Amino acid sequence: MQVPKGLEGVIVASTQLTKIDGQAGRLVYRGYDATELAGKIPYEAVAYLLWFGQLPTNGQLLTLQGQLGNNRKLPQVVDEFLVEPSKVAEPLSLLQTSVSILGGLDSTKTASIVDASIALTARMPTIVASSYRLKHNQNLLEPRPDLGHAANYLYMLTGKVPDPRHARALDSYFTLLADHGLGASTFVARVAASTLTDVYSAVVAAISALKGPLHGGAPIYVWEMLQSIGEPERARAWLNERLAKGDRIMGFGHRVYRTEDPRSRVLKRIAQEIVSPELFNLASTVEREARDLLRKEHPERAIDTNVEFYSSLVLHAVGIPPDLFTCTFASARSVGWTAHIMEQRQDNRLFRPEAEYRGQQDLKLPETQKTETVAQQANALGRSRA
Ligand code: COA
Repeated sequence: MQVPKGLEGVIVASTQLTKIDGQAGRLVYRGYDATELAGKIPYEAVAYLLWFGQLPTNGQLLTLQGQLGNNRKLPQVVDEFLVEPSKVAEPLSLLQTSVSILGGLDSTKTASIVDASIALTARMPTIVASSYRLKHNQNLLEPRPDLGHAANYLYMLTGKVPDPRHARALDSYFTLLADHGLGASTFVARVAASTLTDVYSAVVAAISALKGPLHGGAPIYVWEMLQSIGEPERARAWLNERLAKGDRIMGFGHRVYRTEDPRSRVLKRIAQEIVSPELFNLASTVEREARDLLRKEHPERAIDTNVEFYSSLVLHAVGIPPDLFTCTFASARSVGWTAHIMEQRQDNRLFRPEAEYRGQQDLKLPETQKTETVAQQANALGRSRA
């Protein structure tokens, strides 16, 4: 039997949440084209759609916005936990550990999956903003229930009510990143949920997977690449040098899309509206040159921009520092992770695939080792150390 590396093409669950058409470059949330939802309805309405299966009425949206707003404040113990580690630890680890503490606080596990999902989605941006402010010796801010989810995140980070264009851009980013089928982190969340662990623990597992540069860790590298290239004229030589060394170009390529990632198209349009013309020109030159070089290197597969490439520009433009890019991705994806956890639990069976064993077989224990007990080995070790 041929084992498909990376489970490519293997169907491991059925879902009603998100459909990705990799050939056509389409992303659909519960029947709605995600690129058409972005910017037209607030992220909170997308959360409602993914969690509850339909778009909310005005009243339902207001109720959910109220619940999210009321849950933004962190328990004191999490605020206190963040004080020292914020100075030294990387932001995604702080987010992961804080989510774990939130789960630990709900020791009776009485919160329903829906309540825990709302609380987590409301609190993840607060954790990110608070750890950032503590690191930079700034006071913690009270959340603003009158602001939308994205606007409040920017407010809690910067202390200023954001420019509405920036709040709208980040809201669209949140919508575009809300879910994406069984990406590695969502798969991990579903596997963890299948053991009947709690929502928080499944999300902690998902964050671990998101951290890697092949998944959610890419946008900071995209940003560093753009900084390192600096001028559009240097793009081709810079990219050529990296490819010659066998490096991957961050922000390009996708397991599922064989054409441009539809989220990248929308984020590029948003970036053009809010970043400086110089930066946009640099990024679009890098895109053009990289696409051309990658086509030559891999004529068999289209390697185009993925969601991370223009995300880095949009996040930078709205005022999010690069070391918070992946945390911001995690905050957006909390809706998708928790929607998948709910779906998994509705018709659960423990994930337990098998590995094809290719190791040695039928080895015999050497005679000398047969007689030595563990206690004898420990004694021998103790004598040799003495
Ligand atoms: N730069 C250079 N080469 C790339 C590439 C990239 N960004 N993406 C894929 N390739 C090449 C690989 O080197 C490989 O070449 P080989 O067959 O000669 O070894 C080939 O394309 C297939 O790569 P593989 O890793 O099997 O494809 P995948 O479908 O598993 O890859 C990604 C998906 C996302 C892991 C991959 O495109 C990548 O590493 N991209 C950069 C990281 C990134 O932007 N991640 C964010 C994803 S949203």
